[in-house]
Amino acid sequence: MKKIRCLNPISNQGLDLLEKDLYQIVETDDADAILLRSFKMHDFEISDSVKSIGRAGAGVNNIPIDKCSEKGVVVFNTPGANANGVKELVIASLLLSSRDIVGGINWVKGLEGDSEVAAKVEKGKSQFVGPEILGKKMGVIGLGAIGALVANTAVGLGMEVLGYDPFISVEAAWSLSRAVKRSINLDEIFAECDYISIHVPVIAETKGMINKDAFAKMKDNVRIINLSRGELVNDDDLEEAIKSGKVAKYVTDFPNEKVVSMENVISIPHLGASTPESEDNCAIMAVIQTKDYLLNGNITNS
Ligand code: MLT
Repeated sequence: MKKIRCLNPISNQGLDLLEKDLYQIVETDDADAILLRSFKMHDFEISDSVKSIGRAGAGVNNIPIDKCSEKGVVVFNTPGANANGVKELVIASLLLSSRDIVGGINWVKGLEGDSEVAAKVEKGKSQFVGPEILGKKMGVIGLGAIGALVANTAVGLGMEVLGYDPFISVEAAWSLSRAVKRSINLDEIFAECDYISIHVPVIAETKGMINKDAFAKMKDNVRIINLSRGELVNDDDLEEAIKSGKVAKYVTDFPNEKVVSMENVISIPHLGASTPESEDNCAIMAVIQTKDYLLNGNITNS
C-alpha cells in the first residue's frame, strides 16, 4: 500500500484514480508521495519516506528543488494542464488593463441606495474611457504552453503580436500562429509594445527582470499583465514607473503588501488556474505521474 499526502486540496477527478487497494491518503509524515498546489514547502520537513512530489500546476517555485535533488526526491509539475484556464484570465486581464471596468464597477457600487443611479451613470461614465485593443501591439514574453495560447488568442482579437522566448519548446513552436512575429530580443518587445504579458518561470535570470532598466525602454502608457509570478517584477521600480506615467496599468495575479495599495494596479488573488477544468486536469496529470513513478519508476515529467 502506497501512502499519498496532499498538502493542498486536490481535485477528486485526480484522487479517484488512486485505487483503494493500492493507495491510501494520509496526513502523516510517512508518505511515499506528496501532492500539492501552492503550499510553500521551503520550511516543510520532507521525511525520508517521500519519493516524489507532484505539483498540480506549472510553477515549482514553492518547492525546494535543490533540497529535493539532494534527497533524491523526484519533483513533477503539470505543464499545459491549466494553460487554457490561465490564458482565459490573461485575456480578461488584458481587457481589464485597457477598459476601466474595475473603476467603473466600483464607482457604480458606490451609488448603491442613490435615487438617481441611471442619471448619474450617464453623467459620470466619461471618466472611465479606455482604449480598444484592436490593432495594438502585444508583447508576449515566454512562449511555453500558456504564452503560445495567449499569443494566438491575441492574434484572434486583432492585435499585432510579438513573442519572445530563447528556449521555445517544439510543441509550443508548432502551436504558434504564423501571425505571431518572433522577436530575438526583449528590448524590441519593450520598445514597441502597448501591452506586455509575462509567461516565464522565476529563475535567477528572470527574477526582477521587469525593473528600472526595462521600464526605461518601454513606451509611455504601457500596460503590463503578470499572471506568472510576482517576483518577476521589481515592485519599487514598478511604483516609480506608475507614478511617472510610464506604466498605465499593471495587472497581477500575485498581489503583495506593496502592490495592493498602488494606484493603477489591478490585483487578482492568484486565480489563473482556478477553474474546475484546470484543477481537474492538473490533479489527473499529477496523480498519473505519481502512480507511474511509484509503481514503475517512470519519470514522465520532472
Ligand atoms: C501554476 O503555476 O500553474 C499555478 O500557480 C497553479 C495554481 O494556481 O495552483
